[in-house]
Amino acid sequence: MASVVGRRGVMAGLLLALLMVGMPADAARKVRKKAKPQVVATDTLRQVFIYSPDEKSGLHAAWLDSTQTWRHIGQLCASDYSRWGNEKRMYQPYVIRANDGTWRAVWQLNNEAPAFAAAYSDDLVTWRPQDYPRMSVQGVYNPVIFKVKSDDPMEEKFMVFFQTADGQYRSTLATNDFRHFAPDKEAGDHVADMVAKNTLLNDTVEIDSRCYSGEIFLLKPAELNALLDFHKQQAADAQLYAETMKDDAHRFAGLKPVDATLTVWANQQKAISDKLVGVFFEDISYAADGGLYAELVQNRDFEYTERDHHGWTAATAWSTPQGKLDIRTDGPLSSNNPHYAVLTNQYIQNEGWDGVAVEQGKSYDFSFFARCLDGKKKDFMVSVVDEAGTDVATAKIRVQGNEWKQYAVVLTSRLTTAKARLRLMPLKKGSAAVDMISLFPQDTFKGRKNGLRRDLAEAIAGLHPKFVRFPGGCMSHGDGVDNIYHWTHTVGPLQDRKPDFNIWNYHQTRGLGFYEYFQFCEDIGAEPLPVLAAGVPCQNSSPDAHGYGGQQGGIPMEEMPAYIDELCHLIEWANGDPATSQWAKMRADAGHPEPFHLKYIGIGNEDIISTAFEERCLMICKEIRRRYPEIQICGTVGPFHAPSSDYIEGWRFAKEHQEVFDMVDEHYYETTGWFMHNLDYYDSYDRKGPKVYIGEYASKTRTHESALAEALFLCNVERNGDVIEMTSYAPLLAKDKHHNWNPDMIYFSNTDVRLTPSYHTQRLFSLYGGDKYVTSQMSFQLSEGSQVKNRIAASLVKDSKTGKSHLKLVNALPVEVNLKVEGLNIPADANTESFSGKPQDMEVKPVIGKAGKELRLRPYSVNVVTW
Ligand code: AHR
Repeated sequence: MASVVGRRGVMAGLLLALLMVGMPADAARKVRKKAKPQVVATDTLRQVFIYSPDEKSGLHAAWLDSTQTWRHIGQLCASDYSRWGNEKRMYQPYVIRANDGTWRAVWQLNNEAPAFAAAYSDDLVTWRPQDYPRMSVQGVYNPVIFKVKSDDPMEEKFMVFFQTADGQYRSTLATNDFRHFAPDKEAGDHVADMVAKNTLLNDTVEIDSRCYSGEIFLLKPAELNALLDFHKQQAADAQLYAETMKDDAHRFAGLKPVDATLTVWANQQKAISDKLVGVFFEDISYAADGGLYAELVQNRDFEYTERDHHGWTAATAWSTPQGKLDIRTDGPLSSNNPHYAVLTNQYIQNEGWDGVAVEQGKSYDFSFFARCLDGKKKDFMVSVVDEAGTDVATAKIRVQGNEWKQYAVVLTSRLTTAKARLRLMPLKKGSAAVDMISLFPQDTFKGRKNGLRRDLAEAIAGLHPKFVRFPGGCMSHGDGVDNIYHWTHTVGPLQDRKPDFNIWNYHQTRGLGFYEYFQFCEDIGAEPLPVLAAGVPCQNSSPDAHGYGGQQGGIPMEEMPAYIDELCHLIEWANGDPATSQWAKMRADAGHPEPFHLKYIGIGNEDIISTAFEERCLMICKEIRRRYPEIQICGTVGPFHAPSSDYIEGWRFAKEHQEVFDMVDEHYYETTGWFMHNLDYYDSYDRKGPKVYIGEYASKTRTHESALAEALFLCNVERNGDVIEMTSYAPLLAKDKHHNWNPDMIYFSNTDVRLTPSYHTQRLFSLYGGDKYVTSQMSFQLSEGSQVKNRIAASLVKDSKTGKSHLKLVNALPVEVNLKVEGLNIPADANTESFSGKPQDMEVKPVIGKAGKELRLRPYSVNVVTW
């Protein structure tokens, strides 16, 4: 029988905490006592102090040097629980070292969650992604860990005791890997005593003149050195990655034009992905509703709620001279669309998305659903009015009958105005219910009904993306289990689609749904890449009704089979035969009998690689693989690059399950310095593992500096195109005054579209892509080499379909580069396309030309030579 043994000592504060059960965690922390530092070092062991400076700062370490001074080492890990910002807190952390030298930590999350945090580390250097095991009670206080004796040291288990709001102790038994926790149970009266006895010796030490409570552990010198080296390296990297072109005048003072040689080994070629550059589309920053989706009426279905955005209601974006809209829900148009408005004798007016933009001479499809509530018919005047209230387009519509029916009319605008309103005026006595009030430009991209805003869609098409990823981003996995994106809610008649709130704090109509996404892909010749949740919502989700935030434990296991079916039905819907598949028939009924030829599916979006994630993700991917072996599956490795814990654990997980993961999705938003100093990032990637999809990346400015850094980086991507399958800059679109993110690739208002310098980098690398990489190397005169090597890059690819060669040349220096090319004859009449500017420029202008005899790369330029 296993028995509970006390840990090494420590945590007098816990005893105090026991006496304060039910107090807010903040208060509990404040009364921890100061104590004298313990001196327990021996000649061969080093003392390390593990503590949390405050609840927002995570777990830190310090070490005691030979002068008996505690030196801060750095942050070990931070709480990743629940919403961004305020909820990522760590209260009363408690750390133990297992008999095999590995580490376990627990902490309290807040006062309401039915969970605590569980963390694991082999070496204090990297920490595995956290788990938040669900307990049976809400409010899990002061968790502590005790080792459970076992005959097999490899199977050492751990008992976590915690307190409830009413002061009772409960316990849960954890497996050795600290990933599985048994259902919690009452712990009995003896526990309070036992916990107190074994936690009396809390350590308090002074670091930089401040006292902290925590725990002292002994490490071997090699262990301490590894920890110190890691943090030293992190600090050095941070300095390197802070490099910005703003400092170039100083950094490159006196630098003369650089002579460089590009040596090409024309016979050394390797196959690379021919889909390296695509786009990432997410409804963030009003990218879909109010953006790419061309609908001009906001809240057309009267379904806005407080959940979408604080203060929003079914009447948001609408007004009426009678003051308040009459909103009802009895006898709705659709159960997915329960609210509608009733009009009696006053008009209602919609403000659009910061105004309704109409153009002189252009036609707009107006439509709405209506039914008479008394009487058999009712006439309406529909008009577009300008800011002064003058009609710029009008039409009459007669509504007949007491059943919901759709009515439509075409309006042609007499004027161009960006700030118009749509007005619906009842003309006769009696009341009528109205819903799904829509005004759609006829001039959509490719003229499609329920289509896309032409200028924005053309800007995306102009990138020549090889694929489109949709619908997100965080929007795919959603804010909580109930907000996970279900593609099935986004297809079919518009009035039956299920709107929902958007994690980005507004509303999704789902008017731009999966049919429209797939149609767009087909229209621009891009592969569709739907990315859907891995059975868990975003780790930054708000707490549910039970106070459980973050991944909320994921979709309950008993509901997983239905969720997996839903994902498989998507493949059926996209590719199936309407004659034999009901899902494919839905596609055909919607107007697309031919298959969409779906080849890829992404499962998961930068999820924390928790136990809940791993279990669900694997269930999904195994079933997709079993039913649709031809579909390529893309997994996810968290929100950051190496050496983040999700990246490490995500890659381990993907490599262990290569039978299901063809590739994994990497994300990073980084400084330009990071990009410039990671031009070899993929050179040592394992060629036998899953491939890489860099699904979200961007360097963090909106300027030409980022376009240059990303171009340097994309040369590195092409060189590694045998292991990198796809990339997509993110996010793609952002509407003025509605930014959730910065930077983005394309900014827009209702009437204009502005392309950032990064857009042009993406376009050049996409348009001039290939499927063969030709080996080349850049060299400089020795004196310049080390100084400039991160600022110049080249990549030569060939496209075997067209027989063309494309040479990209990036010069991110403030001086010209004179390039000599060896091993390759570039015809003097080869075409060039390039852009340049100052690093801080927000706009650049690509120019086309001819290569000529000499390759001179302008300062701060991105160039393509193509022949
Ligand atoms: O691209 C913006 C957001 O960044 C995405 O929604 C999310 O996946 C990432 O954190």
